[in-house]
Amino acid sequence: MTLSRVLAILILQYSLVALVSSAGPPSGWKTLQGSPPMVIARGGFSGIFPDSSSLAYGLALDTCGPNVTLWCDVQLTKDGVGICFPELKLDNATDISIAYPGKAKDYLVNGVSTRGWFSVDYNFGELANVSVVQGVYSRTNKFDGNKLPILTVEQVAKLIKSPSTGLWLNFQHASFFKQQNLSVENFLQSLPGRSVPVNYISSPDVDFLRRVKSSFSSGPTSFIFRILEQSKIEPTTNQTYGELLKNLALIKTFSSGILVPKGYIWPVDSDHYLQPHTPLVTDAHREGLQVFVSDLTNDVPFSYNFSYDPLAECLSFIDGDDFSVDGVLSDFPVTPSAAINCFSGLGENAKRQVDTLVITKYGASGDNPACTDLAYNQAKSDGADVLDCPVQMSKDGIPFCLSSIDLLESTTVADTQFKNRATTILEIKFRSGIYTFSLTWDEIKTLTPSILNPYEKYILSRNPKSKNLGKLITLSDFLSLNEGSHILISIENAAYLAEKQNLHVTDAVLDALQKAKPRSHKVMIQSTHSSVLKIFKDKSKFERVYKVDENIRDAADSAIEDIKTFADSVVIGKASVFPESSAFLVNSTNTVARLKSFKLPVYVETFSNEFVSQAWDYYSDPSIEINSFVIGTKVNGIITDFPKTANRYRRNLCLKNGNKEPYRSPIEPGKLFKQISNLYLPPLPPPLPVLTDSNVTEAPLPGVSGKVPSSKAAPGVGAAAPAPITA
Ligand SMILES: *[C@@H]1O[C@H](CO)[C@@H](O)[C@H](O)[C@H]1NC(C)=O
Ligand SMILES: *[C@@H]1O[C@H](CO)[C@@H](O)[C@H](O)[C@H]1NC(C)=O
Ligand SMILES: *[C@@H]1O[C@H](CO)[C@@H](O)[C@H](O)[C@H]1NC(C)=O
Ligand SMILES: *[C@@H]1O[C@H](CO)[C@@H](O)[C@H](O)[C@H]1NC(C)=O
Ligand SMILES: *[C@@H]1O[C@H](CO)[C@@H](O)[C@H](O)[C@H]1NC(C)=O
Ligand SMILES: *[C@@H]1O[C@H](CO)[C@@H](O)[C@H](O)[C@H]1NC(C)=O
Ligand SMILES: *[C@@H]1O[C@H](CO)[C@@H](O)[C@H](O)[C@H]1NC(C)=O
Ligand SMILES: *[C@@H]1O[C@H](CO)[C@@H](O)[C@H](O)[C@H]1NC(C)=O
Repeated sequence: MTLSRVLAILILQYSLVALVSSAGPPSGWKTLQGSPPMVIARGGFSGIFPDSSSLAYGLALDTCGPNVTLWCDVQLTKDGVGICFPELKLDNATDISIAYPGKAKDYLVNGVSTRGWFSVDYNFGELANVSVVQGVYSRTNKFDGNKLPILTVEQVAKLIKSPSTGLWLNFQHASFFKQQNLSVENFLQSLPGRSVPVNYISSPDVDFLRRVKSSFSSGPTSFIFRILEQSKIEPTTNQTYGELLKNLALIKTFSSGILVPKGYIWPVDSDHYLQPHTPLVTDAHREGLQVFVSDLTNDVPFSYNFSYDPLAECLSFIDGDDFSVDGVLSDFPVTPSAAINCFSGLGENAKRQVDTLVITKYGASGDNPACTDLAYNQAKSDGADVLDCPVQMSKDGIPFCLSSIDLLESTTVADTQFKNRATTILEIKFRSGIYTFSLTWDEIKTLTPSILNPYEKYILSRNPKSKNLGKLITLSDFLSLNEGSHILISIENAAYLAEKQNLHVTDAVLDALQKAKPRSHKVMIQSTHSSVLKIFKDKSKFERVYKVDENIRDAADSAIEDIKTFADSVVIGKASVFPESSAFLVNSTNTVARLKSFKLPVYVETFSNEFVSQAWDYYSDPSIEINSFVIGTKVNGIITDFPKTANRYRRNLCLKNGNKEPYRSPIEPGKLFKQISNLYLPPLPPPLPVLTDSNVTEAPLPGVSGKVPSSKAAPGVGAAAPAPITA
């Protein structure tokens, strides 16, 4: 080996060392021992696959890497076998009621009579043909036909291939088994210590912990006291968990740590806004107790302060100024893995690792009413590169920014005197609307903006505190508010407005831009119409963005060549990149690569934080979705209503590292879909169309000069009366 080779290898090794040690906060982890927090996969990756199934544990290991701890809720069978299953009753998340119909029984559980199928009534052999299924109705049931067997603790331990992978056994109902004359201690003693190294044992039962701790005191196992709701009574001590937690010194006598619901650390008020954190982690650490946090789940609404971004919530527990918990229990363990290894210690000014543009969708409209001054100001502070203004026209020809031509969609106009201006205009949409061109700007500016709630039908609302804050702004206001910023002006309905309302939106835009010191902005003009883009010819002033308004699987060469004559870049929808069926990605198209091979940058929309907006394949984590487009298909820009999430993504440390870590590699489209058993397969979607020349070419806009109108007469003044009121 030559000296230079040796040197190169040495340098490589050193740089790897530097990379590994650069993860985590610069001042070191504020965990009890100073080591990175643990990721504990509750029932495996139970957010996607049936809880405690082989698929769930397998996915946790695949996505988190070896440094994950597998959590198993242990239940005992009649013959004393320990199985991993999330609940005492088997009926909720298995098909036992089909295998053993009519065999439900009643038991007292914590003093409450409970009916169901209990593990204590069956020998393990009798459960052989019972399969685990999805027990949480909001999660996908598509893996219920996979005949996934109930696993024993030993079988789960066998899935572990690396000494850095941990096993955590939780005994939620130890006293119930004792009442049934089944001994958890005997079960634990029966585990072959070498092949089943139990790292953690947790329980909410003080008596149980005291007993097992004394019989296992010499081993490597740590005992963790699981804290339940504040008002619940712990039977051994007859105190509530809330009271017990005030006596950390007592807890220390029977455990080496606590596992608490997240609200004990970050409480929320009755409106789901975050309150200041409690001193619990610091106090427990002072007492020498580790602190683990539970209930971090990507697919339930959490505090509005995190804007539906589960990574942001996770970081609040591990990357704060004051503390870090020692471990995070999650149904979506990939999110804490990425938080710990890629996103912690980033700080406000971390360097960008990719040059993907972050383009807003109506400003930061995930947290504010769309296109208001507040939405744009927040977008800037969130790190967006390009601020977008969809231009609408008032009756008196004033261009202004609003997400829709229909004021009903993002203002409270329905509650005002203007509600009788509703009209039905079939060229625009089938239902009636209150259109911007039916009100003058003086009227429009009195309207109260209202936040968009695209996922209302899932009962997910956006930031209620800002629901009606901010004000609508004219295009000129937008230009001066965002002076010096990179902006995108989108123009739709131009032909209708010119023909039927005598309003010339392209002229109005050119006029506003000319008046607003043109050099202070970098301007993109976006439209779904080639006829609009053709008017903005001056390439030195404008980047013309063609938006394909339908999902496509490909584009014909002739169509792309045509696009190149009037546009400089293209916007497509997410499904044009990864087609979906029942929220599973089916495969990927070549659309991005094709457009890019013609030197057309590609921007993709719309990236939102709400988990219901993402395919299952992204594990309900918006950063994983973004990563799959940025790294997986190399898109040039992300169009998002939550620019903070996309901007943080661009700075994460794992991008520097070539995305070798499993929690950072782009998802494989179609991988989950292929794991669905035949009976449960959703129908394949009909193939998406190919964009052709005829989709792109258009007649020129009617009555458009392409020249900037003289400033004497504002464009459109004296327009024809609005269409008659029909509603
Ligand atoms: C499950 O196994 C039991 C006992 O072997 C058998 O009686 C029962 O029919 C099986 N049930 C199903 C659904 O296969
Ligand atoms: C079923 O079990 C899951 C946890 O595995 C739980 O979240 C859900 O509430 C249960 N459903 C019912 C109807 O008990
Ligand atoms: C995984 O854990 C081992 C020790 O168990 C440690 O040396 C290694 O750095 C960890 N890897 C990561 C990526 O945290
Ligand atoms: C448990 O054992 C005790 C003593 O042997 C007995 O009295 C009791 O009935 C048993 N309980 C059950 C549920 O089998
Ligand atoms: C538990 O405490 C309550 C009130 O604090 C008391 O009424 C009850 O008798 C106690 N039970 C036991 C078993 O100590
Ligand atoms: C959460 O958001 C609310 C409303 O914006 C704010 O008043 C509160 O201070 C935030 N909580 C924290 C802990 O930052
Ligand atoms: C993707 O799936 C569709 C079916 O929905 C199929 O028609 C198409 O050929 C597939 N494309 C690739 C590249 O596999
Ligand atoms: C292209 O035009 C055809 C015919 O009008 C239409 O059926 C198809 O949906 C259009 N495709 C796209 C991608 O716009």
